[in-house]
Amino acid sequence: MLKKLVFLGTGGTIAGTATDTADNVGYTAAQVGVERLLGAIPGLRHALGDCALESEQVVQIDSKDMGWRQWCALAQRVQHHLARSDVAAVVVTHGTDTLEETAFFLSQVLDGQLLREKAVVLTCAMRPASSSVPDGPQNMLDAVAVARSESALGVLAVCAGTIHSARDVQKVHPYRLNAFDSGEAGPLGFVEEGRVRWVHPCPAVGAPVSSLSVPRMSSVEWPRVEIIMNYVGATGATVRALCRVPAADEPPVRGLVVAGTGNGTVHEDLLLALREAQALGLAVVRATRCAQGCVVPSSAIGELPDSQGLSPVKARIELALELIKKAADAALVKTASPV
Ligand code: SIN
Repeated sequence: MLKKLVFLGTGGTIAGTATDTADNVGYTAAQVGVERLLGAIPGLRHALGDCALESEQVVQIDSKDMGWRQWCALAQRVQHHLARSDVAAVVVTHGTDTLEETAFFLSQVLDGQLLREKAVVLTCAMRPASSSVPDGPQNMLDAVAVARSESALGVLAVCAGTIHSARDVQKVHPYRLNAFDSGEAGPLGFVEEGRVRWVHPCPAVGAPVSSLSVPRMSSVEWPRVEIIMNYVGATGATVRALCRVPAADEPPVRGLVVAGTGNGTVHEDLLLALREAQALGLAVVRATRCAQGCVVPSSAIGELPDSQGLSPVKARIELALELIKKAADAALVKTASPV
């Protein structure tokens, strides 16, 4: 059977336009539909080889505005297409700004069995589609090469000829075309002249953190988890303000991720406030604001659980998914208990 690659568009700079073709910063993101972007790529037919192409616009936004509602829509469409026997892989075009969060989120919620068999490849661009020298078309061709590779599994990101895992990928530069990095883990591979050169196997797909069912996820409420940073002169004031009873139209805060200094250290007043938050029932996780490495467990840094190497933004997603699971388990116990 002819296998298909499905492109799902979500917006971003890759779909952005500026009035001046020399302008690579003063553009509006998310203006061109994914079908039109695909139609403008020279050499796409050749890159697809024996694969057919399908595309669908899921949302059309600047990825700074990505939220739970858009994530639900995207996860549902990705899972729908991955589950089709005639689909080999799914490629998602996405803004660079929150690509690492969406990649990690998808890796945590999509059906693990499907991710053990097929790949979801996120790609992006640093220059708008209207640029006289855009990077989007090459990134999309590279994403096609990765999606067609038999070794590609799970959720991956492809930018500037480099393949990253969903867990490690991080945007590290606001302007450079090669804006992403995988830190100490390093990239999984490279795309060179349409050929994929893997340097590491794709990470094994583990058990999901959450029991969230993708088809039903839009009926679930995303728990509010905020990120707090430690810095010179930090105090516990923000945490204490967040713990106060929220306004009627505001969801209560359920969890906090602290982006600590160095090995996850926090100012003594901030630590006090985080302990007060724990005592009120909020879940607190400690990450590091350092761009590389992870919090090394130590008795000196006390009782705040660490983020297991996840960056603050990814620790926030994991904590929110854990809170969803806890709430679902608690509801199950409540229904099962005798009256
Ligand atoms: C966005 O993230 O949607 C805009 C910025 C980009 O894609 O580079």
